[in-house]
Amino acid sequence: MAAVRFALDPAFAIGSVDRRLFGSFVEHMGRSVYSGIYEPSHPTADAAGTRGDVLELVRELGVSVVRYPGGNFVSSYRWEDGVGPVEHRPHRLDLAWRSLESNEFGVNEFLSWCADAGTEPMLAVNLGTRGVQEACDLLEYCNHPSGTYLSDLRAAHGVEKPHGVRLWCLGNEMDGPWQIGGKTADEYGRLAAETGKAMRLLDPEVELVLCGSSNSTMPTFGSWEATVLEHAYDYVDYLSLHSYYDPSDGDLDSFLASAVEMDRFIDAVIATCDHVAARTRRRRKINLSFDEWNVWYQGAFSGPENLEWQRAPRLIEDQYTVADAVVVGSLLISLLRHADRVSVACLAQLVNVIAPIMTQPGGPAWAQTIFHPFALTARYAGQQVLRVEPVGPTYDTARHGDVPVVDATATIDPDGAVAMFVVNRSRDAVPLQVDLRALPGRAAATHTALYDADWNARNTAEDPQRVRPRDVAAVAVDDGVMATTLPPVSWNLIRLAPPAVS
Ligand code: AHR
Repeated sequence: MAAVRFALDPAFAIGSVDRRLFGSFVEHMGRSVYSGIYEPSHPTADAAGTRGDVLELVRELGVSVVRYPGGNFVSSYRWEDGVGPVEHRPHRLDLAWRSLESNEFGVNEFLSWCADAGTEPMLAVNLGTRGVQEACDLLEYCNHPSGTYLSDLRAAHGVEKPHGVRLWCLGNEMDGPWQIGGKTADEYGRLAAETGKAMRLLDPEVELVLCGSSNSTMPTFGSWEATVLEHAYDYVDYLSLHSYYDPSDGDLDSFLASAVEMDRFIDAVIATCDHVAARTRRRRKINLSFDEWNVWYQGAFSGPENLEWQRAPRLIEDQYTVADAVVVGSLLISLLRHADRVSVACLAQLVNVIAPIMTQPGGPAWAQTIFHPFALTARYAGQQVLRVEPVGPTYDTARHGDVPVVDATATIDPDGAVAMFVVNRSRDAVPLQVDLRALPGRAAATHTALYDADWNARNTAEDPQRVRPRDVAAVAVDDGVMATTLPPVSWNLIRLAPPAVS
């Protein structure tokens, strides 16, 4: 295979990395909450019922923000059911996933879990079956200091200090025919505008996310974004994107190039936001919140229609492979590449439900393959993203046309530390050469990669360390050029230490 080359130059920065790019998502769905993050009878549980082993993995994953409580679940959720004495909380039917909801875990439990996990909360309000008033009630309960019915109720529930939640989603996937209380773009745009207006009056510090299309294959994709923005532009900060990449059809070559589709999706939504801004003479830009993304074997899930009513059923507990982890790593490359416009992103979801972390009720918790590229990117991505233009071989795919064999991005910190994130989509090893002449004083690099001779290898409860990142080699830099080899079907992290100070 011919070598791939690119150059790094600190003069060519795309934008700064918002740490909120390394977010995730906890929905009341399947075992995400119950026997996921919360299991009072678990040997590692604390007084609040939080699983300590899961919390440790969440911290290691480096999740910066967590969206909650849905997802489709939020569209018929009554937040009041989940506050106050647990013994008085009603049991309800959750229509989104045809599950039984005990409401043992609610907004205060979630916000206190976020504080323990060292992560920022991102709450969604129900704009499916509810509206402006209930959204404002939840905001008042969470954020108003005291002296009103709902802020005093929070204090009576044991939470004196306001939670100060900044990030709020105005509903979820409101264009989806599956959404409880789904809406047309005009209906939703008006409701979101009025809800946003009222929420900002209540707390001017909030940052609001408007629902974009559920994915880029929706028949109304593009026009939905334009219409809802026309209604709500002045009241929101971000527009949402959701996308899941499905390996079910077995076309590995196309699947490995899923980031090409993510790039196109992001570019199209940016174009739509800027088109509305131009047409309506607005200068303030709307940024993006990619608040659901992941690999999901959707072909294996027939939908909620035929599910039996159960509490915390095993739903979409996908077991991820090495190839899936390479794709997750490459999707993070796409998100970083768009750091100038993508401000928030959430790997969906966090525990058990299409998740990097798996648990057994009463048993162990472990990291899936996709955990590793996420954790390393969250840990090592620096402050600024650099422009990277790899030159090298391409290959043909059924789904995306001709795509580059190697994709890459890089970041730099103020002290000059550089992290390169590189994916090799080929089944062969690929030589990589990086021109570092614009970054003098670098003698060596470290190279870590996630790869395996078996692209279908997975981590399990019995063998949780089967797939882990490995050190590839210490890499020399000669005459301003760094050379290394990317293993077949691999995600790679190559780091340059800051230059030595003389
Ligand atoms: O993450 C699973 C589901 O996918 C979410 O509830 C919904 O928003 C999306 O369709």
